[in-house]
Amino acid sequence: MEVIVAEHAGFCFGVKRAVEQVYEQVAKGRPIYTYGPIIHNEEVVKDLERRGVTVIGSEEELADVTEGTVVIRSHGVPERIVALIDAKGLECVDATCPFVKRIHNIVAKESGAGKKIVVIGNAGHPEVEGIMGWAKEGAAVVESLEEARDFTCGKDEEICIVSQTTFNYNKFQDMVEIFMKKGYNVSVVNTICNATEERQTEAAQIAARVDAMIVIGGKHSSNTRKLYEICMQECANTYFIQTVDDLHLDLPKSVRLVGITAGASTPNNIIEEVQNYVRINF
Ligand code: F3S
Repeated sequence: MEVIVAEHAGFCFGVKRAVEQVYEQVAKGRPIYTYGPIIHNEEVVKDLERRGVTVIGSEEELADVTEGTVVIRSHGVPERIVALIDAKGLECVDATCPFVKRIHNIVAKESGAGKKIVVIGNAGHPEVEGIMGWAKEGAAVVESLEEARDFTCGKDEEICIVSQTTFNYNKFQDMVEIFMKKGYNVSVVNTICNATEERQTEAAQIAARVDAMIVIGGKHSSNTRKLYEICMQECANTYFIQTVDDLHLDLPKSVRLVGITAGASTPNNIIEEVQNYVRINF
């Protein structure tokens, strides 16, 4: 079987950096915690657990930790979590992706100047929660075109719009347009990360050329789910798998060319395994 693997498949810069930082801490031999799973990949999280890394699941659990190092993942956290880690005298390793940190800084600055923050993104996603947690006053999250249309605020309020780094660029533009038409005083900072755009564009291009497309990523990874949806639009034979073990492809005989891409949290070794499996077994 002929296989095309996307160049932009797998770990992005921010995730790679965060994972490396946890492994560096493991080597130091102190109790290590990550605030939430370091990435949306069960294999990596399990490997870290075997090496003694504990995942803190909530603010309450963090309050019970008495010693050690807490690593903040690439998604970032609200300001109050950083304050809690400091207040408890724990060592904090902030592996927030610099692109996400930039959004925190914008939100803190603009909300400090009195602007109302609107985050275009998925409500409840940890990155969005983190971003909102740097606003001085309550920030709003807007997820859909309907929500953008329904949004209201005082006519004299200034609005600063930012986006979740993994949000779809076209949808973001459409939503911004709705805000503009409302006549509010709006400033927009496009904080969508290039890694996502590049991965999505390349995935669509490959999916349009191949007979079957495989998207690898964690069940709970929203960027992988989006990749899957994008590929599905171009190629009806698109499969979403977590590891090579999920690969029970019943490919039609006519399939000659298979494309592979992977979400931002998929380690290289998993991509390699899938690639080799497809090449050899089909
Ligand atoms: Fe950072 Fe972009 Fe990855 S924001 S975590 S490099 S998707």
